[in-house]
Amino acid sequence: MRVAMIGTGYVGLVSGTCFSEFGHSVVCVDNDQSKIERLLRGEIPIYEPGLEDLVARNVRAGRLGFTSDLAEAVRGAEVVFIAVGTPSRRGDGHADLSYVFEAVRQVALAADGYRLVVTKSTVPVGTGGRVRALLAETRPEIEFDVASNPEFLREGSAIEDFMRPDRVVAGTDSDRARDLMTELYRPLFLMETPIVHTTIESAELIKYAANAFLATKITFINEMADLCEKVGANVHDIARGIGLDGRIGRKFLHAGPGFGGSCFPKDTRALVSSAQQYGAPLTLVEQVVSSNEARKRRMAERVVAAAGGSLRDKTVGVLGLTFKPNTDDMREAPSLDIIPALLRAGARVRAYDPEGMTEARRLLTGVTWAADAYDALEGADVAVLITEWNQFRALDLDRVKAVMKTPVMVDLRNVYAPSEMVGRGFTYTSIGRPT
Ligand code: UGA
Repeated sequence: MRVAMIGTGYVGLVSGTCFSEFGHSVVCVDNDQSKIERLLRGEIPIYEPGLEDLVARNVRAGRLGFTSDLAEAVRGAEVVFIAVGTPSRRGDGHADLSYVFEAVRQVALAADGYRLVVTKSTVPVGTGGRVRALLAETRPEIEFDVASNPEFLREGSAIEDFMRPDRVVAGTDSDRARDLMTELYRPLFLMETPIVHTTIESAELIKYAANAFLATKITFINEMADLCEKVGANVHDIARGIGLDGRIGRKFLHAGPGFGGSCFPKDTRALVSSAQQYGAPLTLVEQVVSSNEARKRRMAERVVAAAGGSLRDKTVGVLGLTFKPNTDDMREAPSLDIIPALLRAGARVRAYDPEGMTEARRLLTGVTWAADAYDALEGADVAVLITEWNQFRALDLDRVKAVMKTPVMVDLRNVYAPSEMVGRGFTYTSIGRPT
């Protein structure tokens, strides 16, 4: 099949590349000419394990191309995906759909016959109807179908998630659209991946419901971790003890500094807004949003406490800045709340992240950027681990102790074993576990 993918951000680039790996002929479109030029040179603008090789292989095979000419890509395709950004609108938390509608309008203007227009961007329920209306209004003489095909990719394991998904969700309202969606994902059905065919509205809502549910699970275990600390219980044991109940499930029960990233914070806020707008408020999700925001803000207090109540003229070594490992993405990362709070409390901050420092330099001021983890901890009164990169799990802890001024470690991701840390002479605190 011939596919045009509008938007070469995270979702668009990964999905377009993976569709070409399925054997489809894919052209990825972006209005950022310099980004297209980089992609044509084989440079991948995001850090995603495995993506560079997959792009190179499919470009070589002639199945994957990049262009800034949207009209040409649309004319050459039967299915057009919209994968442009839907950031949070300032003020009200609603998703900003201006990029989506602008792309749809351009698709309508460029089309020279029937097209299936599929939204892959996360869009609020009801957007499919508005896309259909815009297509009809712009080009009443052309027949269009609209579909919703939300993506469940995690940054850092996006290719695996696309190639081996738990399910594919396809929201359509015609047989033709349903057949085209089935055909697009045929290689997955040979592997018996379930496809959930629904209406467009249900598919749109499934995406938000999935992210809100996962965010709720994380927030639940984070609040349990706070209680564990008060009563001397261990949140790992709680997570395992409840997670082995198949109705609950073990995943997404890792307590930490609060969820971040480009999806959970934005999508939970947008869902809260739509639910309020439709007069069916999701009070549980509202609570998740505020609990998580407050949690991220509170994390710095743990560092102050570990330093004996004051950070004035003390040095804090920060390990990890991105919202999670294996990405360079800093969006809504807990570090963006924690580090400014440490600086306000009078600390000097030395920080290191394997992939996030270019972006972090843009977002944070007053920080000394370190060359590696040991450099970040050089002379530090306290270490705080914010992101659980594997290289931090493998640190030489004796060397860490030797370079620090005082061996105090605040582990916000429960990477180290408390008994081992204490055994090595660290003053160690983690999340929801007794030391
Ligand atoms: C998330 C979803 O997992 C994907 O299914 C979805 O497609 C994607 O959003 C999206 O909507 O595009 P992602 O944001 O890449 O993916 O990252 P996750 O691995 O889900 O982590 C999100 C945040 O939750 C991170 O800050 C992570 O540290 C935190 N988290 C996750 C926890 O604190 N505890 C956990 O147990 C799991």
